[in-house]
Amino acid sequence: MSEAQAKAPRGTFDVLGQEAQARMAIEARARAILEAAGYERIETPCFEATELFARSVGEATDIVKKEMYTFTDGSGRSLTLRPEGTAPVCRAYVEHGMHKRPQPVKLWYLSSFFRYERAQKGRYRQFWQVGAEALGSDDPALDAESIQLLHRLLGELGARDLKLRLSSLGSPEARGAYREELKAHLKSREGELSEDVRGRIEANPLRAFDSEHPGTVAVMKDAPLLLGQLTAEDLAHFDQVRALLDAAEVPYEIDPTLVRGLDYYTRTVFEFTSTALGAQSGVGGGGRYDGLVQQLGGPRTPGIGWAAGIERILLAGSPPAPAPPALDLYVCVHEEGEEGDARRRAFALLWQARAAGLRAEMEMAGRALSGQLKQANRRGARFAAIVDGTATTLRDMQDGGQSEMGSEVVVHELLRRLRTLS
Ligand code: HAM
Repeated sequence: MSEAQAKAPRGTFDVLGQEAQARMAIEARARAILEAAGYERIETPCFEATELFARSVGEATDIVKKEMYTFTDGSGRSLTLRPEGTAPVCRAYVEHGMHKRPQPVKLWYLSSFFRYERAQKGRYRQFWQVGAEALGSDDPALDAESIQLLHRLLGELGARDLKLRLSSLGSPEARGAYREELKAHLKSREGELSEDVRGRIEANPLRAFDSEHPGTVAVMKDAPLLLGQLTAEDLAHFDQVRALLDAAEVPYEIDPTLVRGLDYYTRTVFEFTSTALGAQSGVGGGGRYDGLVQQLGGPRTPGIGWAAGIERILLAGSPPAPAPPALDLYVCVHEEGEEGDARRRAFALLWQARAAGLRAEMEMAGRALSGQLKQANRRGARFAAIVDGTATTLRDMQDGGQSEMGSEVVVHELLRRLRTLS
């Protein structure tokens, strides 16, 4: 009886081949753009204390309510596979006393995240994000820079049909009064709302703007808008962000109904969408979170950042996928007599070639010599070395020319020929 074939869990996938190459190209672009703007790489653990996300992302959000992979470890602690990167970065900022460094502290990451969502194209249970967070300043120039960097990254990666939606959620104090007004509006037309939205009037009324339920959409058309009720200070901040984006020629659309699925946002929020994506149109998004560090036990520290989904970037465009680099040398083993001698010499040659900085591979699948030369071709090798019990023959894979030489001079000769070719 045959065993059932093992498969990756639903909503997860393997990364290999062309796709792995494309991802490396995205990482290289992100690194070049972000490091040139002063962002340092950070990697946080895959799992954190559950409380970190409950406190920051928010108990009433979908992420915390139903999408977290939470488990209890051997000592009874509740841990959660990270569903997002901002809270862990803020935790690390506090833990490492980064507020003592010159501000702002700018950090970027490219990591995998976990959400128990309904899996479909562009929406997975383990997915990858590239993200950037800048902590320690509330200067609107930092907001504009952050948005501009994501705009540039997505543009350079070939994301098509991009649209940037921008809004401001103001400060939590101002939002308090607005929430009450919105709740009253929702309650006055409760019967028209979806069950989901009705159940969240108290805990998370703003998410009603995200609903696609026709009754709810109609109610939200008449809803009061937060953007019209910002304090003078918040409005001035938002106006400066806009003016700087205009100066940087980043096109955007003001969308007063933009709310994000995480509770920590204050003031600026934004989202890039691509019509090339279909239902899951969000390529990347973010915003300000001026209260988050303090909420996690740190000093008062404003912050702004974003994250973009790697799989969605790949779906929205065609990032350049460089071909894997061709080999300089393929080492063939031609064993005629006693098993082993040619192999040992070939293996030594392989390492000498690599030590000299060459891209080299050796036959390790037991092919006959003709099969080995075919494999050298398939791997794009410029030269092959055929090592037998006594001598080594260097073969030019382009013109087929061959010359025999002592194994001690092969690498030297190869380097000389490659230099003349370049
Ligand atoms: P988010 O909007 O939840 O924000 O996620 C950011 C991006 O991650 C989305 O725009 C999308 O491209 C991708 N993404 C989210 N969920 C999935 C999924 N299930 N499958 C595939 N891709 C997905 C955050 O995570 C915030 N931490 C962003 C941020 C950083 N805000 C401030 N700083």
